[in-house]
Amino acid sequence: MKISQSLLRMQPSATRAVAERAKDLRDQGVPVLSLSSGVPGFKSPEASRRYAERAMEEGKTFYTVTTGNVELRNAVSDYYKDRFGLIYENDQIIVGAGAKPLIFEALGAIIDPGDEVILTAPAWVSYVEQIRFFGGKPVIVETKDRTFEIDLDRLRASISEKTVAIVINSPNNPTGVIYSGKIIEDLCHLAVEKDLHIINDEIYERLTFDGCKYRNPLCYAPEAKEHILNINGVSKTYSMTGWRIGYALGSRELIKKITALQGPLTSGACSVAQWAALGAIREAESEVDEMVATYQKRREIIATELDQFPHISYVKPQGAFYFFVDIRETIGLSSNGNIITDDNVFAEELLEKEQVTVIPGSAFLLPGYVRISFTKGQDEIRSGLNRMKSFLVSLS
Ligand SMILES: Cc1ncc(COP(=O)(O)O)c(C=O)c1O
Repeated sequence: MKISQSLLRMQPSATRAVAERAKDLRDQGVPVLSLSSGVPGFKSPEASRRYAERAMEEGKTFYTVTTGNVELRNAVSDYYKDRFGLIYENDQIIVGAGAKPLIFEALGAIIDPGDEVILTAPAWVSYVEQIRFFGGKPVIVETKDRTFEIDLDRLRASISEKTVAIVINSPNNPTGVIYSGKIIEDLCHLAVEKDLHIINDEIYERLTFDGCKYRNPLCYAPEAKEHILNINGVSKTYSMTGWRIGYALGSRELIKKITALQGPLTSGACSVAQWAALGAIREAESEVDEMVATYQKRREIIATELDQFPHISYVKPQGAFYFFVDIRETIGLSSNGNIITDDNVFAEELLEKEQVTVIPGSAFLLPGYVRISFTKGQDEIRSGLNRMKSFLVSLS
């Protein structure tokens, strides 16, 4: 029976081989340690649980308006005003079932077949598959070697008459880099000049370290407001991935178009989860501060360890909860007779020899690296790193 070309254009996840093997090993009782998970492990904030329970008690369990509860949109509006000094009315905000579906809907509202969307690599792979689904062409622009900063000259040169949008993600998954204000300002001017959308995925904006400050692009280039669609949500900041709540803030026109797609798709996000998100945004600030402090401690542990590892280098993350580790020096070395030919083989060998999972950089469109995350507790991180060190030391 027929399967659509739209679907067939999407490619299986580059991390599938390692994930499946890790699952097999776990099923056999092998204690596999994860340095790969992007899921924060903290319990959902107390206020989110309380608000959800109250919503259920009070029977707030029906469809909401497609754009989301007005209370939640007002809270998101207040958050953007307090945090970035930006004014978004609630008809410039839509709540969806996570940042991921909102990015999908936004791309659906923008892309016609053949249109090009620029991504800066390394990039989160879901963007690529979503763009392909709509018949668009992802145009990959590598960031600068060693700093992962956007290379604006390269990006400018990749714009064609088919370009419709640029997707950026800062703090970045997988590098943890916060793009510099000057570059973001210039990028916004470029988008205005070329009349392009910027999809600004700032899902990690609250998770920054060492006083590094993330600012929304509109703090640098307020004149680009009509061009920017901000994507955010509760998954990472509040450790609420399973509730599936995200929000998008942008021009009235684009928000209306996204709403037109979301209506027939989901009718809006889960009502109880929206109340939970409201509780988190209103009352969980101190819990978030504690989580950030914990991430910061884990980040220090990892940096101290990695500094002693042979064959690798890294850029210390300013935000999110990932290190993107350069393993190019290991290419060509042998792990008990198996040659490391690329980052996929590195990840496979590390799993086989030491039962630790990491994500190959190829999954983020930048081979030669692996992503390690600090979502797990200190003990698992330390054990995982010890094993990774043994693996690196054993290479010859
Ligand atoms: C860059 C980036 N954007 C969006 C998401 C997904 O967010 P949500 O859980 O709200 O769909 C993730 C999750 O890993 C991510 O890394």
